[in-house]
Amino acid sequence: MKLNFSDIVYSFSYGLDSIEAQIEAINHGHAKRVAVLCYFLGKHAHMSDEKLTELMAMACLHDNALTQYLREEESDKAAGDNIAKMMKGHCIIGEENISRLPFSKAVKEAILYHHEEANGNGPFGKTPKDTPIMAQFIHMADVLDIKFNLETIDDEKYNAICEYVRQNTGIRFSEYCSHLFLEKIKPEELKSLQKASVNEYLRNLSEKKQRDFSEAEIREICNFWIKIIDYKSSFTKSHSREIAKKAERLGRYYGFDGEKCLALYIAGTVHDLGKLTTDSNILEKPDKLSAEEFKHIQNHAYQSWIMLKDVRGLENITLWAVNHHEKLNGEGYPFGKKAEQLSFEERMMACIDIYQALTEERPYKKGFSHDKTIEIMRDMAAKNMLDETIVEDIYLCFRAA
Ligand SMILES: [Fe+2]
Ligand SMILES: [Fe+2]
Ligand SMILES: [Fe+2]
Ligand SMILES: [Fe+2]
Repeated sequence: MKLNFSDIVYSFSYGLDSIEAQIEAINHGHAKRVAVLCYFLGKHAHMSDEKLTELMAMACLHDNALTQYLREEESDKAAGDNIAKMMKGHCIIGEENISRLPFSKAVKEAILYHHEEANGNGPFGKTPKDTPIMAQFIHMADVLDIKFNLETIDDEKYNAICEYVRQNTGIRFSEYCSHLFLEKIKPEELKSLQKASVNEYLRNLSEKKQRDFSEAEIREICNFWIKIIDYKSSFTKSHSREIAKKAERLGRYYGFDGEKCLALYIAGTVHDLGKLTTDSNILEKPDKLSAEEFKHIQNHAYQSWIMLKDVRGLENITLWAVNHHEKLNGEGYPFGKKAEQLSFEERMMACIDIYQALTEERPYKKGFSHDKTIEIMRDMAAKNMLDETIVEDIYLCFRAA
């Protein structure tokens, strides 16, 4: 399957940035700003284009394990507030996640050591000689964006940043990184890290072509996504994984070829990608939601659209995924599409999402049985919300589940 992997990484980093903005109160767009600053550092260090592309991807994904770590720590309350443990933990899990993705060996340990301090006071006690250059660049860009919010830069802030780098040479930053920054990074480069231009930059700087990915590679990419999306809320901890599996299974039931079934699996994986931008407090609110909160949750479908619409190679899959809350009678969201505007695959995803939501257990409800779920879905089909033939096919396809 042909995809543009950089597009995928950048679309995903939007979601990761939303999580980080909620958890750590960092201005939205942090990972992308880190990526562009890393690009300038890498460029001045004469890195090849391939390495620069991977460096930017690592920068975008540097905190990919943040929610996964926090979720896993919830069952281990004693360690819950231990910052040192968290620093180490999210680096280890993040590195492990990345190692399964189709990157080259050049990215090894870029995530693992992204919090190492030049004086050896980082989570693993490494000094620059044992820290890959990619990790050093990510660390420097990460620190500077958190401390100075690089979204807005004026001359005064630029001077303050240079002073900070100077004072922290050999303490936080290696001699090499500090000199590179102070001698090569121009004020205009830092000033380009504003919201509007960062996306533009990333799109222009990313790999231009789509690459062929094997089925095994695609499944690893999906696994990576699923982990992050499903870790977002304990209420829906296996929701995306189950939808992906069921979409593929229904595809096989219809006799679609392997590539199409894999495409359905991807659509299931990313259908709720926009939930990364949903406020966790609302997502996990045990009480009845207010109209406004309900609207906020519904907005996840539109957010999925924003995140996926520019990914080259995923055009059809994006539509199947994003329109899973549309109804044949036009009363769905995000676009209020009508029956004639909804393809067979979009209708499939809508039915599978409802089937999964009704059958899965949540902390506040038990899952309905297969028969009860189909009964509810038949009722929805009678109201022209769902496609009735697909509901019947789901009845047959999943009844032995
Ligand atoms: Fe981090
Ligand atoms: Fe960060
Ligand atoms: Fe959804
Ligand atoms: Fe869903």
